[in-house]
Amino acid sequence: MNLILLGPPGAGKGTQAKRLVDSRGLKQLATGDMLREEVSKGTELGQKAGKIMAEGKLLPDELIIDMIMHHVLSGEQKNGFILDGFPRTVAQAEALDHMLANKGMDLDHVIELQVDEDALVARLVGRFACGKCGAGYHDVFHKPTQDGVCDQCGGTEFTRRADDTEQAIRARLQVYRQQTMPILPYYRRCGALKSVDGMADIADVAQQIDSILDENGG
Ligand code: AP5
Repeated sequence: MNLILLGPPGAGKGTQAKRLVDSRGLKQLATGDMLREEVSKGTELGQKAGKIMAEGKLLPDELIIDMIMHHVLSGEQKNGFILDGFPRTVAQAEALDHMLANKGMDLDHVIELQVDEDALVARLVGRFACGKCGAGYHDVFHKPTQDGVCDQCGGTEFTRRADDTEQAIRARLQVYRQQTMPILPYYRRCGALKSVDGMADIADVAQQIDSILDENGG
């Protein structure tokens, strides 16, 4: 099963994708995570990406399309993949269609997480992750069971993203409205788009997604 999780910054794409990796053995292809890895390794791409990402802008389409093509075409995805953060422009959506058609692969679901903008800002300014295993948390909505200790690996160092400042979040939301929202009608026209209420709590959103995936035998 191959699916896209769509939604504005902070909608919960990463949170739900990680759950689907665990529950269904899907492979998460998160362009933001791939870029942050390049930034942390200090590669040529990372040096270019770091500044653009911190400003909340998008990287050039060709560069992202090449990166995702490499992962979709070369990676092992026995049970299928979840695209998280891609596509983000109509050009990226069209390139994905070509990529999948060339490979004889299908897109089974495009799921949009709908969340109010004010809630998104609150979610992102409070977000942090374990520096050792990457498990995601939130100051209010998803705290580690024991304060300062990661539930998953026991790590005690946590990190926050450079683009989770209020200024960068506002810029990311504007980019989403202007450049990413136009892909919604693109997927609506081909009948692939389903929307879920991303304002519900994490478990409830998970349930809404599961019912979509399990329709018609998943
Ligand atoms: P990327 O890393 O993709 O960031 P994003 O789209 O801004 O999305 P986020 O990761 O911030 O949010 P999310 O929806 O995954 O939310 P999460 O689950 O973490 O991209 C970063 C940058 O990379 C871009 O700005 C761009 O520069 C570049 N880039 C990436 N892809 C690109 C592309 N295709 N083209 C060009 N450039 C690209 O949840 C957020 C918080 O809320 C967490 O703390 C979580 O615990 C909490 N939470 C989640 N769900 C709920 C809920 N239901 N209720 C309450 N809290 C919740």
